[in-house]
Amino acid sequence: MNHLRAVPGVPAGPRDPSTPPPRSGSASSVRVEAPGKVNLFLSVGASGTDGYHQLTTVFQAVRLIETVTARRQSARDHGTVTLTLEEPDADVPTDASNLAVRAAELLAETTGVSEGVDLLLRKRVPVAGGMAGGSADAAATLVACNILWGTGLSLLELSALAARLGADVPFPLTGATAVGSGRGDLVTPIMTRGSYHWVFALAEEGLSTPAVFRRFDELTGTGAPAVRDVPEALTSALRAGDAPALAASLHNDLQAAALDLRPELAQVIAVAEEAGALRAIVSGSGPTIAALVENPAGAQRVSRALMASGLVTDVLRADAPVAGARVVG
Ligand code: C5P
Repeated sequence: MNHLRAVPGVPAGPRDPSTPPPRSGSASSVRVEAPGKVNLFLSVGASGTDGYHQLTTVFQAVRLIETVTARRQSARDHGTVTLTLEEPDADVPTDASNLAVRAAELLAETTGVSEGVDLLLRKRVPVAGGMAGGSADAAATLVACNILWGTGLSLLELSALAARLGADVPFPLTGATAVGSGRGDLVTPIMTRGSYHWVFALAEEGLSTPAVFRRFDELTGTGAPAVRDVPEALTSALRAGDAPALAASLHNDLQAAALDLRPELAQVIAVAEEAGALRAIVSGSGPTIAALVENPAGAQRVSRALMASGLVTDVLRADAPVAGARVVG
């Protein structure tokens, strides 16, 4: 079943294979926004031969938005993919190792496009923070280049390419709130009501996702843990729009591994909860701490306490859920 929502300019269903895809759209640039995420629930199982772990997760898209502008190149530059950061950041590569560049290259290869693209990236999701900012960049790039180049892939086809780029890349195409299974790349939206308020505490240095999964393996030993289903208490809290009930159901199997690598994160969680957060947990593979609060006033109290603690480099506030990748401007 195709659970993907419509994105203006992107056909919802598969393309009719008898019609050749259009080549090169008419716009000179296309801007696409895609959100970062927090994992409301993350159950991790054994790793397979490909090094990936089976998992069940619940993603929620948060209003920390990455923006990718894909610009047509002059004839002189044709065939290359370039990336420029709106605000240069030493921790974000701009070469072919950047997931957004790989996304554009994968789409070009798959569809036989020889035209290049200049990508301009505005980042708002913490880098290497466990909030899938790089995955959002790749998802936004797929949507933007698909329109710029007139390649006409459906959202389902883009989602299959997204899964080849990384386990977290399909979700920002869909956004809102969704269950991720398999490696996290099989995304099924779930019903929710209302808005949730989050405070994110940022650490000075990022954590490597593979390193956190490796520590998870070391801590769990040889007994392969079974992947748990999403608890009914969590889905019913989301359906009811009940933030305190959601707080009670938040769970992250990677938390112990992230805390083992960064013991000071336990103090950040304690500060947020003492300041009135309904609950604070490690976001994804960390090191960002995600604190769920009751309302904007609660967000302000928790933000102030976190900044005053001296334990964090910055604090961001965001509501959720928000839509997935969308064309703007
Ligand atoms: O897919 P992505 O590149 O985002 O994953 C980064 C790393 O996280 C993988 O190379 C793997 O080490 C780990 N990972 C995993 N199991 C998953 C997802 C990610 O072990 N389901």
